Amino acid sequence: MSQSRLPLRIAILFSGRGSNLQSLAAYIAGEEVPAELALALSNRPDAGGLAFCAAHNIPAQVIDHKQFEQRADFDAALHQQLTNAGIDLVCCAGFMRLLTADFVSQWHDRLLNIHPSLLPAYKGLNTHQRALDDGASEHGCSVHFMRPEMDDGPVIVQRKVPVLADDTADTLAARVLQQEHIAYPEALDIVLKKMAGTAEQTRQI
Ligand code: GAR
Repeated sequence: MSQSRLPLRIAILFSGRGSNLQSLAAYIAGEEVPAELALALSNRPDAGGLAFCAAHNIPAQVIDHKQFEQRADFDAALHQQLTNAGIDLVCCAGFMRLLTADFVSQWHDRLLNIHPSLLPAYKGLNTHQRALDDGASEHGCSVHFMRPEMDDGPVIVQRKVPVLADDTADTLAARVLQQEHIAYPEALDIVLKKMAGTAEQTRQI
């Protein structure tokens, strides 16, 4: 694998409205951040986040998963696009596709995800309703390195919220989402500092 150069090149993968894409883009635009947002990529042509990219001159692409019969073929096209764009680090931000073990292994420790639960609790979908159904007193979000198992891998940052007596899945989701917008930049900051340190040392050798 080629050595990273500064600024590190980040890709954000998303499927929908893209509020985490927006919070990450705002963080990456900060002056001290040793990275650039090189690519935003959606698997859905109708993803709301594409309008944000167009309005903010963020290079965006769509790879429509419906054009591929096999999951592995979609992932191969995705890997090719990321490689062509010289991407160092990939952030899944509301990217609602399962990725093959091959793809995840190719991006080992360079592939992050945000999940709306306190992992390892509530992997998968409908996390907020499941937390309510269980009578959980706390809920939250996790940013983690991805591993081949769904919603698995080392956690980088978690942020908690209380579950309130009158919460619905929607009110709880909104409270968690506010924390997601803090947690993902926090996690990216931790990962970038480590990666940038390595890239800087390599440059000095
Ligand atoms: C976020 O809540 C994110 O945690 C979740 O999708 C939402 C995307 O919102 N991701 C998952 O459930 C992945 N398993 P956004 O498009 O506004 O960022």
